[in-house]
Amino acid sequence: MQLTEETPADWWEVEALYDLCFAPGREALSSYRLRDDVPPVAPLCLLLRSEDGIAAAIRFWPVRVGGAEVLLLGPIAVHPTHQGEGLGGWLMRESLARAGALGWTRVLLVGDAPYYSRFGFGLLENVRMPPPTNPARVLGLALVPGAWDGISGDVTKFTEISEK
Ligand SMILES: CC(C)(COP(=O)(O)OP(=O)(O)OC[C@H]1O[C@@H](n2cnc3c(N)ncnc32)[C@H](O)[C@@H]1OP(=O)(O)O)[C@@H](O)C(=O)NCCC(=O)NCCS
Repeated sequence: MQLTEETPADWWEVEALYDLCFAPGREALSSYRLRDDVPPVAPLCLLLRSEDGIAAAIRFWPVRVGGAEVLLLGPIAVHPTHQGEGLGGWLMRESLARAGALGWTRVLLVGDAPYYSRFGFGLLENVRMPPPTNPARVLGLALVPGAWDGISGDVTKFTEISEK
């Protein structure tokens, strides 16, 4: 397996992996509206590639919560032939370590708490994704202790240029 940052040439192969791994219509999810016309955080969009193609991929976007800058994790997917081998966990830990090194302090995702709690994610009770997101799937991680303290409100699109 080779770890690389995603390049523009990888875009459609990653999209094909996500299409394979997620239910049809994934782009209708409200989280995608936060990504429309906003560039991803390129140094955190990582791939694991085997000789057969992309085995796993993760992307991140910047968003805002009550005005604060937040990192939106996802989508993450592992090819069905490689699921359960630890690649997802490895990509999660590697990308989160890189996010911290780049100065990001708080991360948000929409996903299954039983899976993401192992990386330290917990329920964000006072953070609202655009409807119709299930509030029980809105999870956060502080990369710096207390980074989520006092941060609440609607998750909104990041419209200004990020300094990171
Ligand atoms: C979810 C996903 C990224 C995990 O990657 P992975 O490489 O298969 O996971 P790992 O090998 O690192 O970890 C496997 C463990 O995660 C658990 N797990 C995987 N998906 C889970 C889920 N949705 N809820 C709870 N546990 C889950 C497995 O049961 C296994 O548990 P164990 O360690 O106790 O045996 C991958 O299975 C995938 O792409 N799934 C389809 C797309 C998807 O659902 N993406 C996440 C969107 S929220």
